[in-house]
Parts: sequence; structure tokens; C-alpha cells
Amino acid sequence: MKFLFELSKEHKTIPTAEIIACLKSEDIKYSIFESTDDVFIIKTQAENKKLKKITNRLSYTYYIDRFLFSCRPSSNEIKKHPIKNKIETNGSIAVRCKNRSKKIESQQIIKSLAEIYTADRKVELDSPDIEIRSIISDSKVYVGQKIFKLNRKQFEERKVQFRPFFSPISLHPKIARVMVNLSSIKNNGILLDPFCGTGGILIEAGIIGIKIIGSDIEQKMIDGCKKNLEYYNIKNYQLYNLDIGDIGKKINKVDAIVTDMPYGKSTTTKGENITILYERAFKNISNLLKENGKAVIGLSNKDFITIGEKFLSIVEKHEFRAHRSLTRHFIVYQK
Ligand SMILES: C[S@@+](CC[C@H](N)C(=O)[O-])C[C@H]1O[C@@H](n2cnc3c(N)ncnc32)[C@H](O)[C@@H]1O
Repeated sequence: MKFLFELSKEHKTIPTAEIIACLKSEDIKYSIFESTDDVFIIKTQAENKKLKKITNRLSYTYYIDRFLFSCRPSSNEIKKHPIKNKIETNGSIAVRCKNRSKKIESQQIIKSLAEIYTADRKVELDSPDIEIRSIISDSKVYVGQKIFKLNRKQFEERKVQFRPFFSPISLHPKIARVMVNLSSIKNNGILLDPFCGTGGILIEAGIIGIKIIGSDIEQKMIDGCKKNLEYYNIKNYQLYNLDIGDIGKKINKVDAIVTDMPYGKSTTTKGENITILYERAFKNISNLLKENGKAVIGLSNKDFITIGEKFLSIVEKHEFRAHRSLTRHFIVYQK
């Protein structure tokens, strides 16, 4: 079966990288059928049930559809497709369209799809049994049957200002979630954030059921982080008030490390030179990771990327413009 992931175009590389990492975390075997800025289509034997597990995780995908067909975005091309037999024969239906192209007129395309799919069927716009979704891009129209709509609203609802304890250093929950996902951690894995601050990353990992360990040099951060975890009803956690150099004395090796390193500006480094702190941090991160484990590290300056390379190998790099004066680098390293 082929599945189509409709990507949020908020970032060039992250949406696809996140899906690939989540498929890996669920051991789903697949081949890539098509990959563009709008869609990621895979061919797999995996069942809906297995795919559902990753819908609870993804933060940069809008929908997962069963892929039906694609063609050039014109109504004549659509009419050529013998597609009707690919969907269930019974049930009410709605045909929807998302036009992601500024060049293509969608009206005729929707009309042709509606003619094909709604003939002999009850049309039900509010809660149809079958939802046909079409995505129009500049060069193609992709048609699929909706399987899952992802809950992206949740990330806005968990924004930092709604937590009992917050500070301007916290990441947006959507970004924290994608960092967790890029580590490909399995649901029964253990994830460590050694610079946990207010707990933004730990919350996103804890909500999807991953066991979490957090640590920070500031006691007030640990106290606040605890409040935040409790607020989201997360129970499976350990927190320590420790310098990055001392965590190894308290905990065993972990499956993944996901962290947003101190920027050296607004966040405290306790007066330590930032390069020395980063050297120590990467050395300890490497020691704390299990063999082949991944570390997803947020950095505020790309010069720090190479410090990590002394201890770990780089798997992926994603650049993210937080605002005009701050570009964040999310680097996926592997031990
Ligand atoms: C960028 S913030 C982390 C933000 C976090 N992701 C959040 O959502 O709040 C970096 C954190 O590193 C901590 N920190 C600085 N130096 C440290 C050290 N040597 N060992 C452990 N933690 C340290 C700071 O107290 C700060 O909370």
C-alpha cells in the first residue's frame, strides 16, 4: 500500500526527516515513492495500526492519506484515471481540496474529482465515511483517501506561556517535539536532556510515553521543570541538579540525548568559557550515549558543530531561523 504524508512547509528539510526518523523508531520498512516539498509518499506493507503510532508523534505533518493517484493538475488528466474502484463501495463521501499552488486554478479539478467520486453516493460534508483529499501543487495533483489528521493544535496549546514555570529560553513545543523525533527513539527507550532548563524537550518526550531524565546546573530550573512535568501529568521521570560533567556518576547510559545547549548569552554558563563548556558537554554526551545512540543538539552558532564532531559523527544538519538575529542549528549526531 502507498501512504501520502502531507507536509507542513514550515521548513525545507525537517518535515521529511521527522517522518523518516519516526518510521525508523517503529521499525516500519518502506521505500520512498515520491518526495517533494508538499508530500512524502511511501510504499509499505505496514498496516494502518502501525502507522497510527507515529501519528501520535509527528509535528510537521498535516495528514496521512492512503495514496490513490497523482497526475498533472488538470481536469482532463484526472478524468483519464480509472480510480473509482480503489475505494470502498459503500458509505457517504466528501471530496476536499488543498490548493498549495499559486498558479493553478482549483475549481475545474475539484469538479472533475467530485464527478468521479460522488456519483451514486451520498455526499456528506460534515462527517463523511470516506474523505477524498486532493493536494494541488504547481506540477501535480495528488489524490488520496484520508486516514489520519494530525493534532497540531496541541503544540500551540502547550506553548511556554501556558506552563506554570517558563522562561524566554524555552523552545516552541513543536520544535522540541521534532528534536525528540529526530533521535528515532523507540517508545520504550530512555531519553536524557542534560541541559533541561524548564523542561520543554522532556515534556514533549514524556507526553508520547518515553522515559525521561533531565538535569540542569540550576536548582530553580529543576524545581520549575518538575512543576511543568507534573502539570502535564507526566510521571515517568528523573530529575537531577547537576553539572553536565557529573551526570555520569548518577545514571546509566541512555538511548538518546536531546538537548538545547546554553547559548552563552541569555542563559547561564556560570561564567565558564562557552567553548570549554561545549567541549565538556560533547565529551560527556558521547560517554552517556549507548553505542549507535543518537544525540540531537540545538546550537546557536554553527562554529560549535565541529566541537561535537570530535566525539560523535554527524548524521543530519537542520538550520532554523528562530528570529532575525538568531539562527538555530539542529544537529543529529550518532555515537
Ligand atoms: C538553552 S537552556 C535549555 C532550554 C530548555 N530546552 C527549555 O525548554 O527550557 C540551557 C540550560 O543549560 C543550563 N546549564 C548551563 N550550564 C550548565 C552546565 N554546566 N551543566 C548543566 N546545565 C547547565 C542552564 O541552567 C539552562 O537552563
